[in-house]
Amino acid sequence: MESSDLKKIIQGIPKAELHLHIEGSFEPELMFEIANRNNIDLEYDSIESLKKAYKFNNLQEFLDIYYIGAQVLIHEQDFYDLTWAYLTKVHSQNVVHVEIFFDPQTHTDRGIGFDIVINGIYRALEKAKHELNISYKLIMSYLRHLSEEEAFKTLESSLPFKHWIDGVGLDSSELGNPPSKFVNVFEASANHGYKLVAHAGEEGPVDYIWEALDLLKVVRIDHGNRCLDDETLVQKLLEENIALTLCPLSNLELKVIQKMEAHPVKKMLQRGILATIHSDDPAYFGGYMNENYYETAKALGLNNDQLMQLAINAFKASWLDSEAKEKHISQVKNYFNTLNL
Ligand code: HPA
Ligand code: ZN
Repeated sequence: MESSDLKKIIQGIPKAELHLHIEGSFEPELMFEIANRNNIDLEYDSIESLKKAYKFNNLQEFLDIYYIGAQVLIHEQDFYDLTWAYLTKVHSQNVVHVEIFFDPQTHTDRGIGFDIVINGIYRALEKAKHELNISYKLIMSYLRHLSEEEAFKTLESSLPFKHWIDGVGLDSSELGNPPSKFVNVFEASANHGYKLVAHAGEEGPVDYIWEALDLLKVVRIDHGNRCLDDETLVQKLLEENIALTLCPLSNLELKVIQKMEAHPVKKMLQRGILATIHSDDPAYFGGYMNENYYETAKALGLNNDQLMQLAINAFKASWLDSEAKEKHISQVKNYFNTLNL
């Protein structure tokens, strides 16, 4: 297939994004604009020198830069502008539903109020719902390099905004910070009505995926790349219909895989695993949803049925109600039916 044909097909698919860190959608241009208006000196003197620093050998090297970028976010308007820029971008890519992460501790640790962060994000999400017809869920992530006690403080701060938050997640430096460190705060989060997800098996071992499922009781796994190493785990994912939210360009940029041809998503689909594709931190990893679909499809030779399955899986794995899921899934099927005419 011509690459322009593949791009056109991908553009037209109604898509759901389930793994996106809003701070990771911070494009250098907007970062410099906000840094200027907040009188903050970024450690880089130009957009070009910042972009040159976007070369990572592992997750930690990326996180070090990601946290520097987030430091320019001070006012509610900054969080609004960040979120609105992301939403208009993905709207242009025919993304119709998003479930996005935010990292409260990245901001509250700098003295920014939880309310400032969430008010800005929420206002942009609501505007997108009304003006762009994008539905959304919001997920608050605990930073796993910090203590469980810190996560408990974040849980406490979130409670006045509970009605805006659908779930909690676990992100940041995976190695050495296993899910088991957060058992109590995940249990408490569930008791407050939050749904549960966690990053596991991105750089970490299969054991971390087991811990996320058995100890934290998450309903889906963010990444989970390593699951094919463990047949018992594959059986569990199949039996319990547990989704993996994969991020191929992220995996490539963070050297989780050495080349796109080595990405496990095709094998996962062939095994019937509820695998989905997302963008993680698109401003840092070179692509939003369409680019992630495209690079994966090109490298692995995914056919239209597999592309359709990926899109359907994301709606199945989403937190939409069953009526909305059905509506989106039939739109995906109709789209592929008309392609085949
Ligand atoms: N992995 C883990 N934590 C993160 C990431 C990621 O890709 N992005 C932001 N926090
Ligand atoms: Zn992530």
